Amino acid sequence: MAYLRNSWYVAGWDHEVAEEKLLSRRILGELIIFFRDSEGQVKALQGVCPHRFAPLGRGVLDGDVVKCGYHGLGFDSTGACVHNPFGSPPKAMKIRPYPVIEKYSAIWIWMGDEDKADASLVPDFSFNDPEQAWIGKGYMNVKASYELEIENILDLSHIQFLHPTTLGSGQVSEGHYEWKQDGEVIWSNRDVYGEVMTDELSVAMGVEPGAKVDRWINVRWHAPASMAIFAGAVASSRPKSEGRETPTTHLFTPETETSSHYWYAICFPKAMGPMGEAMANEQVEFLKMPFETEDLPMLEDQQINIGDREFRTMKLGWLPGDAAGARARNILYGKIDEEAGAA
Ligand code: FES
Ligand SMILES: [Fe+2]
Repeated sequence: MAYLRNSWYVAGWDHEVAEEKLLSRRILGELIIFFRDSEGQVKALQGVCPHRFAPLGRGVLDGDVVKCGYHGLGFDSTGACVHNPFGSPPKAMKIRPYPVIEKYSAIWIWMGDEDKADASLVPDFSFNDPEQAWIGKGYMNVKASYELEIENILDLSHIQFLHPTTLGSGQVSEGHYEWKQDGEVIWSNRDVYGEVMTDELSVAMGVEPGAKVDRWINVRWHAPASMAIFAGAVASSRPKSEGRETPTTHLFTPETETSSHYWYAICFPKAMGPMGEAMANEQVEFLKMPFETEDLPMLEDQQINIGDREFRTMKLGWLPGDAAGARARNILYGKIDEEAGAA
């Protein structure tokens, strides 16, 4: 499978890269190590030692030098070999550095040409900025392709069937759905009328539990798979302006061709004070249940049925809710092909 290379991918939440520790993670099939240098800046390097292919994550961080845990070669944050316990450091044993940015509570990595890494291309997730919001954060490793994740989030018609007692209701299929394209950004917008949501969702959206409400659920996609959902609800037939919109963040990065990293978060305004902080923590716990026990097994079983066939080449069925996901994947595949052509 070809991946889009010249793009920012999320590699972790900011807190996952801790001081004086190495974090090893597979991204687009490549093992990468992350660490903070003595100034606290996050750095990323190829995670495999060029000497005998030892995983550098089994080594140690000594100041700003990553030391291999097998025979002790040391690499600085530019990837140059700067330490050799047996003589002078061999210049040829250089490892690849990757551009990284810490922004919106996440670590973003550029997997393509270093000179094309433009910080302004990180999509806007300012609502996920710890200065602006209380954020409840989660992570899930999914044994399914990120393409299945793109479709899962862009087609939330599934909440009626896969999440009937958590996120969905029987009214979803009767609601209004439309999708649109804004440049290379895809929106998949859904309005559901006269539904009774679960108590947890009602609390999250600031409406009375048990009351009939109108809910909007707008999904935004940026290539390759950085997504956000802006959802809110108001008492039935009241204007949307009376409601509070709650953003959730859904960031997917291929781990391998058939597995994905999934970082998710829910945000409440800083102005809510300690109540906002408590809600962020409670609500992310609530989301964990449907994500881990409802979406995850479905996605992993889809992948088992697909096997190692390429999703992009498969003949698919068609329902109206598929339009946004199909368009997003077309944009993504177009960009991948464009890169392959340029190469
Ligand atoms: S494998 Fe890393 S120093 Fe030998
Ligand atoms: Fe779901």
